[in-house]
Amino acid sequence: MTPADQSLKAAAICRLAPVVPVLVIDDLAHARPLAEALVAGGLLALEVTLRTPAALDAIRAMAEVPGGVVGAGTLLTPADVKAAKAAGAKFGVSPGATDRLIAACEDEGLPLLPGAATASEIMALLEKGYAVQKFFPAEQAGGAAYLKSIGSPIPQVSFCPTGGISLKLAPGYLALKNILCVGGSWVAPKDAMARGDWAAITTLAREAAALSR
Ligand code: 3PG
Repeated sequence: MTPADQSLKAAAICRLAPVVPVLVIDDLAHARPLAEALVAGGLLALEVTLRTPAALDAIRAMAEVPGGVVGAGTLLTPADVKAAKAAGAKFGVSPGATDRLIAACEDEGLPLLPGAATASEIMALLEKGYAVQKFFPAEQAGGAAYLKSIGSPIPQVSFCPTGGISLKLAPGYLALKNILCVGGSWVAPKDAMARGDWAAITTLAREAAALSR
């Protein structure tokens, strides 16, 4: 898959909803009801981080939920890319970007939202053809004010910022011209998952899905 195709597919995924839930799943039994709860609330693109032993099986289980588009986050190596694709991930997200990681995604045909945090990283990805990028860690790296400033010299790159974003902070990002959506874990709190309070998660998802952009 060419970088241009990668960017088109990544943009389409980002446009599915204003917020992409960033999910850390410890218990495989949570995967399906969690995906159902988020999709019921209107959040359709779901990022499962490869940070727990259950993550790949969780992607497999969630990929069967109608209406959802499940991707893999925290891609660090080509092996992660292969495993994510084999588990049924429809897109990948990485905190930063390396040549090997990008090549693996292109070879596997896995649309990638590659991470960047500085003007040089953003420019390097753009040079490779990646016009849709993750900005990470968003709040810590300068937040919405930083992205607004980057939009002046580099307006051709659009972002999905993640890291430290909440329901309260999201509108400040979504109002910017160069933001397609935001990512965040706030829609799937650990305590609600532990309690199996899927209704609470649907409520959080609904609030997030109603954000304007
Ligand atoms: C991450 O990769 O951890 C995401 O950026 C989510 O960050 P958050 O937990 O601060 O929303």
